[in-house]
Amino acid sequence: MLSGKTVLIGITGGIAAYKICELIRMFKRANANVRVVCTPNALHFVTKLTLQNLSQNEVGVEEFEIPDFKPEHISYADEADIMIIAPATANTISKMANGICDNLLTSIFCAFSKPVIIAPAMNCNMWNNRIVQGNLQKLLNAGYTILEPETGFLACGYEGRGRLCSLDTIFDAAKDILTEKKTLAGKKVVITAGGTIEEIDPVRYISNYSSGKMGIALADTAYRLGADVVLITTVPAEKPYPVKKVKSAQEMQKAVEDEFSNSDCVIMAAAVADYRVKQHAVQKIKKTDENEYSLTLIKNPDILKHLCETKTHQTVVGFCAESENLIENAKEKIIKKGCDYLIANDISRKDIGFSSDYNEVTILTRDGGVKKLERADKYTIARRIFEEIYG
Ligand code: CTP
Repeated sequence: MLSGKTVLIGITGGIAAYKICELIRMFKRANANVRVVCTPNALHFVTKLTLQNLSQNEVGVEEFEIPDFKPEHISYADEADIMIIAPATANTISKMANGICDNLLTSIFCAFSKPVIIAPAMNCNMWNNRIVQGNLQKLLNAGYTILEPETGFLACGYEGRGRLCSLDTIFDAAKDILTEKKTLAGKKVVITAGGTIEEIDPVRYISNYSSGKMGIALADTAYRLGADVVLITTVPAEKPYPVKKVKSAQEMQKAVEDEFSNSDCVIMAAAVADYRVKQHAVQKIKKTDENEYSLTLIKNPDILKHLCETKTHQTVVGFCAESENLIENAKEKIIKKGCDYLIANDISRKDIGFSSDYNEVTILTRDGGVKKLERADKYTIARRIFEEIYG
């Protein structure tokens, strides 16, 4: 199943390290070439000899050990198709999140440009520690896959979240990545995310509740499927692909149009404000004695509609947020905008949509097709949307 693939397993110093012996066997049974690197502390829990015998390869622990013109961390990084860090301790997670390279494992991680899976395991209080959680979030934002630990009885005697996820979960996640077809290779995909910010004065603005999560999930997924991705976003994002940060609808329009002519697909997942204030005040607006205050709003450009009017070969995808009559309104909107696909969202539901990690959408096509995707996390929804567009 995995012949021709090299899986690099990084083991750090936690009790769950003993379980990784079986994980190595699972990858060997699937015909993968397995390389193992350990932090020095991992060897308190498993021996180098065991890992060497199981992987049928030399096991790396220290830097500067192998006499070669190429440093070990670069050789390991070049050779592998995927890196799995399991168990990942709070210490190694925090080093990785901050670019610290003080041993062979962390140096390889820093030099590794292919997919990385991180499977943490630790005491539940360490897992809940806000600094550790912040570091995990940093790794997640940077595009690494985190397989969260399970809740249960921990080796330290505590009951709580911190137990290494199942070996099947790790194996399946790696297998999915290694066997995933790069269906978007060679395609340039531009994706917008977040709600636009329309300034009233230097301290106030008009915006909306869009978190940008759906757009970011689409961009991450397109990147994983091999696309050349540009993310245009109002919410901050640190990604391994180009990110353009914008604020207003006008700025977003300029950024999208700059990328449009040589793109293959544009997905407008952003919630663009329909109006902006006519007169943006340069100084802070002062309170008056009147009970009412009026702002005059003027229409923003309709970015999606303009793309559809000027497109040549591009596939243009819109999103549609509705609080009632979802399908009826969406059918009208796809015609009015002229896009190839419209992804309709019911924003009246609290369990999906804005700010949630989950979504349930209906995909409409211009020829009248309507396909509902069942509720799922936004990454699964993103994958299904690309399957619908590119097969
Ligand atoms: N959109 C856009 N420019 C705008 C408004 C919306 O490009 N000025 C895009 C959004 O990114 C989305 C699609 O149009 O992909 C539909 O957005 P939505 O807010 O549902 O529709 P509107 O056109 O704003 O219509 P309404 O608010 O009346 O439902």
